[in-house]
Amino acid sequence: MTGQDFSAPAPDRPAPGFGPYAPGPEHSGFSAEQIDTSRPHPARMYDYYLGGRDNYEVDRAAAERVIEVHPQVRLSARANRAFLRRAVRELTAGGIRQILDVGTGIPTSPNTHEVARETAPDTRVVYVDNDPIVATHAGARLLDTDRTGFALADLRDPGAILDHPTVRDLIDFSQPVALLLVAVLHFISDDEDPAALVATLADALPAGSHLVLSHATDEPYEAYEGGRVDQTARAGVVDVYKSATAPLNLRTKAGIEPLFGPFTLLDPGVVRVPLWRPDGPVPGPQELNHTIFYAGVGRKG
Ligand SMILES: C[S@@+](CC[C@H](N)C(=O)[O-])C[C@H]1O[C@@H](n2cnc3c(N)ncnc32)[C@H](O)[C@@H]1O
Repeated sequence: MTGQDFSAPAPDRPAPGFGPYAPGPEHSGFSAEQIDTSRPHPARMYDYYLGGRDNYEVDRAAAERVIEVHPQVRLSARANRAFLRRAVRELTAGGIRQILDVGTGIPTSPNTHEVARETAPDTRVVYVDNDPIVATHAGARLLDTDRTGFALADLRDPGAILDHPTVRDLIDFSQPVALLLVAVLHFISDDEDPAALVATLADALPAGSHLVLSHATDEPYEAYEGGRVDQTARAGVVDVYKSATAPLNLRTKAGIEPLFGPFTLLDPGVVRVPLWRPDGPVPGPQELNHTIFYAGVGRKG
């Protein structure tokens, strides 16, 4: 767990709504009172897995039900964040200076722009999420410079993302962009055609752009001898998310690879999150079997 206190904006950070791209009412069309606390939200459940405090009783109860049937979910969430950080570092080191982070989640330090800035302080980042609570917290924690922005928009309407004024202001579509779809595509059902949504976003990006993707799976880790799908845990997890605002669509590696569409997979391909270009020791097969995210990075030629 991060162990950070997310209950209030850090004292050295500006108040919510600071900056030219703050998600004020004109961007989001909602007020804090309109935030739905009657159903679990994936963003707030994920915040709970990571040890954050931007969640409500309904989210904590649902997250605890997931932890009960799949105790390693917190480990998976942390490994997923670590993958995001490694991928962003690699891409900024390789020259990327613009990032579209779709499915941002509730801010968790270090956030994408903070990681990018370690290598390239001039990197522009637009965060996109369809959950109003993410917008609420983005103001305080993500938008402390004129190089970051937030768009309240839905991945299921990629045209609205591409046309969003904040996206248009901050992203130059003639220059390479890193598109982050980290732990979000499993909230898109087959009927909603995730590959087509990615393709629409990819079409708008020039050669040299990259896709950073991670995705939940119920596939056993192939090198783990005892690897098997625990059907009870699987059904339990999927069942909890059925009551959430976005149900979960677990996919196999073979189901995830085609989502890269025009992006050519970079080494090592689609692997369990800790195995994507690790910068330290990697977990053993049993832990990898319990790490329920696949990850990969692709490049548009
Ligand atoms: C599990 S969190 C991942 C956060 C972050 N990307 C990470 O990996 O640490 C998933 C995020 O995707 C957002 N999300 C789910 N469905 C979405 C959609 N259709 N459009 C935009 N965001 C979505 C949720 O609100 C949540 O904030």
